[in-house]
Amino acid sequence: MQVGKLVEQWRRARMKVGLVPTMGALHQGHLSLVSLALGEADRVIVSIFVNPSQFGRGEDLSSYPSNFDEDLKKLDEAGVHCVFFPSVDEIYPEGFSTSIHVSGLTDTLCGKYRPEHFDGVATVCSILMSIVRPDIAVFGRKDAQQLAVIRRMVDDLRLGVEIHAGDIIREPDGLAMSSRNSYLDPDERRQAPVIHSGLSRAAVLVSKGERDTERICGAVREAIAEASLATLQYLELVDPDSMKPVSKLTTPALLAVAVYFGHTRLIDNVILKP
Ligand code: PAJ
Repeated sequence: MQVGKLVEQWRRARMKVGLVPTMGALHQGHLSLVSLALGEADRVIVSIFVNPSQFGRGEDLSSYPSNFDEDLKKLDEAGVHCVFFPSVDEIYPEGFSTSIHVSGLTDTLCGKYRPEHFDGVATVCSILMSIVRPDIAVFGRKDAQQLAVIRRMVDDLRLGVEIHAGDIIREPDGLAMSSRNSYLDPDERRQAPVIHSGLSRAAVLVSKGERDTERICGAVREAIAEASLATLQYLELVDPDSMKPVSKLTTPALLAVAVYFGHTRLIDNVILKP
C-alpha cells in the first residue's frame, strides 16, 4: 500500500503518526530516535533514502554504506510499523526543479564547507514530510545544525509537523555513532574518540569558570592535535538556535566540530552551559 494511503487510514483512526528520516546503515543512534518516536506516536514510519542532493561533488554518495536487509531486521525488531524506502525517481521525478534554502543558519559550521548540503537536506525532508504527513518527526542532536535547519524550515513553511530531538548516542569509548564510522581503518578508529574527549575537556574548563571562546576552543584544538591522524576542519562555538558565532559564553552555546580522519569526515558537538 502507498505510504500516504496507509497514513490516511491511521489518521482516520485518530492515531498519532511519527516519522524518523534516515539514510540507512542503521545503528543505535538511529534506533534511539525510533524508540523516542514509538514513545510519542501510535504509529512510526522510518524512511531510508540516501539523498543524492545533499552530497556535494567528490563526497561519498557512491560509497555511502548500505545494509538494507539488516536495517529491515533491526526496524522490525524495534516495532516500527512501516519502512518507507523510495527510489530516487519517486523523490525527484523528471522535471523536479525545487530547492529549499534556509538562509543564515547555514552560513556557519558544516554549511561553510558543504555549501549545498543543507538545501538538499531541507528539500528532501520537506518532500518526505509532504508524502508521509506525520504529526511528529524525530531528528538527532548529533547533527545539531541539521536539526536547527529543519526546525526553521518547518516553522517558516508552516508544515505543521512537531519536531522532536534525540540525544547523541556514543560508542563505549565516546565516539559518536555514525554510519561513516565504518570507513575508519583500525588506527583511525583507535584515535577517533579524541573528538569527544576534546569536547569533554571544554566542558570541564567551563565547569571551572572559563567563559572565553578562544581559550575554550584552544583547549579542544590541543586535545585533537594529540591524534596524529586527525585533521580539524572547523571548531566553532555558536548560538544553538541561530548558529551565529559567540565570543563569550554567557548563555548555553553549541560547541561543534568536524574532523577528518583520512577521507572520513566526522562531526560531533556538545552544549556548553555557563
Ligand atoms: P542519517 O545520517 O542516516 O541520520 C538520520 C538521523 O539519525 C538524523 O536525525 C541524525 O541526527 C540521527 N543520528 C545519527 N547519528 C546519531 C547518533 N549517534 N545519536 C543520535 N542520533 C543520531 O541525517 C541524515 O541521515 C539525513 O541528513 C536525513 C535527515 C535523513 C535527510 O536525508
